[in-house]
Amino acid sequence: MPTVTLRVNGKERTAEIDVRTLLVDLLRERLQLTGTHVGCDTSQCGACTVLVEGRSVKSCTTLALDAEGADVTTIEGLSTNGRLHPMQAAFKEHHGLQCGFCTPGMVLSAVDLASRNGRPSEAEVRKWLDGNLCRCTGYHNIVKAVQAGAQAMGG
Ligand code: FES
Ligand code: FES
Repeated sequence: MPTVTLRVNGKERTAEIDVRTLLVDLLRERLQLTGTHVGCDTSQCGACTVLVEGRSVKSCTTLALDAEGADVTTIEGLSTNGRLHPMQAAFKEHHGLQCGFCTPGMVLSAVDLASRNGRPSEAEVRKWLDGNLCRCTGYHNIVKAVQAGAQAMGG
């Protein structure tokens, strides 16, 4: 079996995997990082979103071997020293979640957006989050949270 080595949340991790192993399965089942969720397994819901080299990707449709040597950030790696990342804090403050199932993917996708566009308009946020589905909130507060989080990240 091949091995894959990548940096996950700042730590180098190596695992022996089947060539078909998906990144989400490596994260959840081998590395016990269960904050990355699986909602659809078909690249539609965005619950499995993580950052690879700072860019949001759907880990349910990414082969783990394709992340060889990459920096991967999951929701567990976003806070520092117990302090929420500004995007997490904004979701909390603006009530951008209810059950929380979609939230890790929403937050990581939003962090990617904020790194490209520090002051996204409501329309830009809605367009960006097209690939992240939420069954609970109606999106209104999520959009407010993403705009506030982007500004808190430096505008
Ligand atoms: S589980 Fe990956 S997009 Fe739904
Ligand atoms: S908060 Fe429940 S799915 Fe989004």
